[in-house]
Amino acid sequence: MTTALSNPLREGLRLERTSKPLILTIFGASGDLTARKLMPALYELSRDRRLPAEFTVVGFARRPWSTEEFRERMKEGVSQFARGKIGSPQLWENFVRGIYYFEGDLEDQQSYVQLADFLNKLDGERGTRGNRAFYLSTAPSYFKPIIENLGQAGLSGDVHNTRIVIEKPFGRDLTTAQGLNGVVQNVFREKQVYRIDHYLGKETVQNLLVFRFANAIFEPIWNHNYVDHVQITVAETVGVENRAPYYDEAGGALRDMVQNHLMQLLALTAMEPPAAFEADTVRDEKVKVLRATSLARTGALYHAVRGQYTGGWIAGEPVPAYQSEPRVVSQAQTASYIAAKFWIQNWRWEGVPFYLRTGKRLPKRVSEIALQFRKVPHQLFPSNSSNQINPNVLVLRIQPDEGISLRFEAKRPVADVSMRSVNMDFRYGNTFEVATPEAYERLLLDCLLGDQTLFTRADEVEAAWRVVMPIIEHWENGSAQDLTFYEAGSWGPSAASKLMESGRQWRRL
Ligand code: BG6
Repeated sequence: MTTALSNPLREGLRLERTSKPLILTIFGASGDLTARKLMPALYELSRDRRLPAEFTVVGFARRPWSTEEFRERMKEGVSQFARGKIGSPQLWENFVRGIYYFEGDLEDQQSYVQLADFLNKLDGERGTRGNRAFYLSTAPSYFKPIIENLGQAGLSGDVHNTRIVIEKPFGRDLTTAQGLNGVVQNVFREKQVYRIDHYLGKETVQNLLVFRFANAIFEPIWNHNYVDHVQITVAETVGVENRAPYYDEAGGALRDMVQNHLMQLLALTAMEPPAAFEADTVRDEKVKVLRATSLARTGALYHAVRGQYTGGWIAGEPVPAYQSEPRVVSQAQTASYIAAKFWIQNWRWEGVPFYLRTGKRLPKRVSEIALQFRKVPHQLFPSNSSNQINPNVLVLRIQPDEGISLRFEAKRPVADVSMRSVNMDFRYGNTFEVATPEAYERLLLDCLLGDQTLFTRADEVEAAWRVVMPIIEHWENGSAQDLTFYEAGSWGPSAASKLMESGRQWRRL
């Protein structure tokens, strides 16, 4: 039993990525995430034979559902959201046989005592040998009671047989994140804890590490000697959808996107090469670079802009203003757009600004990391308005249209020396003709296998909070009346362009 869930990388199981028998208990199983993401991902894994026959899921929620009813609902979720179709009824039957529902109250200790009995009984029936993973997919206010109740019910297990997965948001600020880490660490060892940032599960985000550290030609120029600046963009066309209560409470894009997803992209782009591809060596480097990162400031001026969308048009359709979205509280000051400039104060990046922006209701769904290189040191060719030498740009396209492109100058095939920017392009879709797995497939599998590399460690989540705290404090101290507005379908508030200096511009995507 002690080896059942040990680190697959050390055991040389890299190629044979199949989990050991285990029961995954999902708290908050009646919520959206379970039907939309978790079950479809588990079904894909089971279809790919990545899950053992004994694999079992227990959905824990308060609603008075039966196991049959829960299974039906999960079937609807999988039919609607899985990458492939449900396929043969036999496949579904095999999968659904391992799904159970447990009606319980997240805050009632008695529910956990009963859950422990239920899991023990299932161990006997399903052959899961006491191996457990607990997935917290609830509102964050329940994280503490769930963790404490698991501890009191004797369900915290040990590093070999029990794991806990915690969804975002991990805290509301540095203090609450530290508090939550304390709660978690009172009950679980850090090696049992899997804090989710689903961006780390995206193939293209993982490819950043391969691109940087499996190629010899990029690393020598990946520094302040060659890079002028870096732009990280995560643009969405969707609005706040039906999530206004969470989003307003979180205070919008800074907590929802910047503290987690964009900080992870920055860390992977800027970190030093780890000595080995192992969970702690990779995460050590991310922590180091996050600790060197800070928001740009000039005296009392913070180089950050926040905005909220007004009504507008996207893809030819009218869309409402943030203030008119369902369940938004009247006069909400929530920012759906953030742009900010950061410095990384270390040997590699001194003097290279990192510009980050993210927003909802922008004209296009596109996420990318762009490194713009310095200008040529000497203008050899005649330069005029129709013959400009543009700097080289390396773009890592995260989604959609995943790929990598390098922009460089080329001579036009005409008599004089006239030039134009052209692209060298790699596209995932054309090169690897297989469907890209969903982020949750990779993350769930890694958790079941005991590989923490793509999950954020306690000190890492705190380091990311430390970076954004000055902006949170500045915007929340009441005196900062600087919420700007932008029309839905535009590229955000015009104030964002003022963050750029020295002739730099946001990329037109
Ligand atoms: C989530 C945020 O973490 O990420 C959402 O809460 C956002 O507001 C989503 O829409 C974006 O994820 P993706 O995978 O669609 O880029």
